[in-house]
Amino acid sequence: MLETWAVVLAAGEGKRMVSSLPKVLHPLCGRPMLRYVVDAAAAVTGGKVIIVIGRGAQLVREEMGARWRYALQEEQLGTGHALMQALPQLPAEGLLLVLCGDAPLIEKEHLEQLIREHGRSAATVLTTGLADPAGYGRIIRHSGDSGARIRIVEESDASADEKKISEVNSGIYCFDIKYLRRYLPALTPDNAQREYYLTDLVALLQEQGHRVSACRIEDWRVVLGINDRCQLAEAAAIMRERINRSLMRQGVTMVDPSSTYIDFDVQIGPDTVIWPQTVIQGRTVIGSACRIGPGAQIINAEIHDRVIFRQSVVEESVIENEALVGPFAYIRPGSRIGPGVKIGDFVEVKNSRIDAGTKVPHLSYVGDVDIGGGANLGAGVIVVNFDGRRKHRSSIGRGAFIGCNSNLISPLEIGEGAFIAAGTTVTRNVPPGALAIARTDQENCPGAADRLLKKSQPQKEKAEEEKN
Ligand code: UD1
Ligand code: CA
Repeated sequence: MLETWAVVLAAGEGKRMVSSLPKVLHPLCGRPMLRYVVDAAAAVTGGKVIIVIGRGAQLVREEMGARWRYALQEEQLGTGHALMQALPQLPAEGLLLVLCGDAPLIEKEHLEQLIREHGRSAATVLTTGLADPAGYGRIIRHSGDSGARIRIVEESDASADEKKISEVNSGIYCFDIKYLRRYLPALTPDNAQREYYLTDLVALLQEQGHRVSACRIEDWRVVLGINDRCQLAEAAAIMRERINRSLMRQGVTMVDPSSTYIDFDVQIGPDTVIWPQTVIQGRTVIGSACRIGPGAQIINAEIHDRVIFRQSVVEESVIENEALVGPFAYIRPGSRIGPGVKIGDFVEVKNSRIDAGTKVPHLSYVGDVDIGGGANLGAGVIVVNFDGRRKHRSSIGRGAFIGCNSNLISPLEIGEGAFIAAGTTVTRNVPPGALAIARTDQENCPGAADRLLKKSQPQKEKAEEEKN
């Protein structure tokens, strides 16, 4: 068995993206498009991948990490020139897969098919048929005395008739390294764009009497190249469908997969039901039998089992078994919502730990607090964690009861089982089991309401009244 290597071309600028980010780093379902290509290549070659970098080289290298080899293409003189930069790192013999960093939908099985069909050819081009082939190199097939031949014509060099051809070059190839070494350096930039086209190698190899094959795959979606943001959205939709199908096969119910947006690295357990308009991002892990959404956004969070999470946002936090969140809650980074905890409507939690069974059912801000289990925070409780200059942390003991509309001025320690009367502004620590109450005394003035209400009636109504 011949040794197989892969080179991924990723040095181009990607002008048509109109972006300051190198094209191959634009994300698709939560990870840079280049990562998908490199993973597919690595799966077939056992990790023997060289990435050709140029535009934004430093950024690309940082993003992809030290696991891969890199070749630098200082000037972007075309795909042929890009591949030349990787030659010195390749062995003398073997097979080489060439992939484009901007065609992220390719999968291991297609590369394996390409290698199979390559057989003993000098080069094999992966092709497909496209309803709209604009922008791609066209495959021109003709048969001469020396057998079937193929040629690739770039869009900018194609005649009107050639442009009608629907079979296109995917930009993915398999080469016999021996021939590549011999003929790649012979490419010239004789074309409309004055670039070294890798596609010209196809003609060159055949002129020299070597066999070049085409491996046509039926599923065009696999080779979709991303040159602009319309194609980026198109590719993302295809990737999303793949992710959703794979999760559904693993036992996740999606009420409407077409409005469910899940990143590639997300994991979800069986019997979890996802309602529409839900976005699950980053490295989120969700357990089994949860109910998520509708309208949820979950970013890099860990959600355990049987959690109900409706119309809410959570980021970089943990939500434990059987907790109830939402509707309309916002759980910010660094929070840990314990088992069976209830976080209700219009509650914001930030960098706080809330232990088992505690309830924060409505209209609260809970920032920088540790709350023991079985506590209850009434409607409108605000933890005042910021004094205008610094943040302070507080703690609330187990089983404490914080009455409605209380302000807790941090830093504070509220003891176990303490009772804070509604409307209290707490400025000092409260010992365990104590009642804290701080309100001004109420006064009732007989008849005063009537007078006040009359006075404040608008002039017009008054006039009406007088007429009657
Ligand atoms: C290329 C092919 C075209 C094919 C299409 C498939 C050539 C000449 N054309 O066209 O036949 O149908 O891909 O998507 O090969 N790159 C470099 N250095 C360079 C130029 C490009 O590394 O100097 C990289 C880019 O980062 C990109 C890939 O090569 O990942 C393809 O380059 P791009 O400019 O997008 O080529 P296309 O015009 O799409
Ligand atoms: Ca391209």
